[in-house]
Amino acid sequence: APDIAVSDVQAHLNEFQSIANRNGGNRAPGRGYDASVSYLEQELRAAGYDVTRQRCTSCAAQSENLLAEWPEGDPNQVIMLGAHLDSVGSGPGINDNGTGSAAILQVALELAEADPAMAKRVRFAWWADEESGLRGSRYYVSTLSGTERSRIDAYLNFDMIGSRNWGYFVYDDVASIKAVFDEYFQSEGVPTERATATDGRSDHSSFKSVGIPVGGLFTGAGSRKSSAQQQKWGGTAGAAFDSCYHRSCDTISNIATAPLDHNSDAIAYAVWQMAVGGTEQND
Ligand code: PHE
Ligand code: CA
Ligand code: ZN
Ligand code: ZN
Ligand code: ZN
Repeated sequence: APDIAVSDVQAHLNEFQSIANRNGGNRAPGRGYDASVSYLEQELRAAGYDVTRQRCTSCAAQSENLLAEWPEGDPNQVIMLGAHLDSVGSGPGINDNGTGSAAILQVALELAEADPAMAKRVRFAWWADEESGLRGSRYYVSTLSGTERSRIDAYLNFDMIGSRNWGYFVYDDVASIKAVFDEYFQSEGVPTERATATDGRSDHSSFKSVGIPVGGLFTGAGSRKSSAQQQKWGGTAGAAFDSCYHRSCDTISNIATAPLDHNSDAIAYAVWQMAVGGTEQND
């Protein structure tokens, strides 16, 4: 798997910050959300993706999900990666969830650049309106037929992966998916913990509730780091993992480079482990 340059991920975050600045200070539905979709769409089309906007009729401002599929590998075995692209109305949402959105974008671009032989199909998704009840991802799942659902081997979710007072949390929903991420972090000498209490709190829930295997990464939101966690990861015990969670200060300054870099590399590792392989045939 490629080593993702964190500066490339940060460049996307800078773009999200400018979009918020031009749209009343946030990327919420009806504000900076649509411009965020347009930015991603342009990058992904230029890289060779099949890109689809899906209007979510149950979402605020009928905002759109963005889907991008890499057109190689077995279409009956799909690995999906997703991140919510909306912010709350109170701020630009750079950690929540510019980070997950930018990291999977950069992994998508590097997959296109590397163009390896693919065993499985990779589909990336950026969700509308997570913040008012996981609406974009719920809508998407509701539009899938039984056959389309059964083609999705795994859904991997990335929501807040650059928290300033970070922890390294790996979703524990499915052991075989967690093991892929753990393998990466172990190779880097980075200790992880299982993410607890993430059920129902981000877009993986929309997939889990219809029986699709899920996994993901998280660096912590409004809850506080314990002293045991401070000994493991450094940072500040007794303080929130992200003290700007859902606040106007969730700006480009509210990002830690180390976890953003490690988590981006972990995402690339997972894509290569789970979907790359076989014989290049399509081009
Ligand atoms: N979904 C939450 C939000 O956007 C944050 C969160 C992410 C919580 C992952 C738990 C796990 O505000
Ligand atoms: Ca890296
Ligand atoms: Zn949020
Ligand atoms: Zn979020
Ligand atoms: Zn190819």
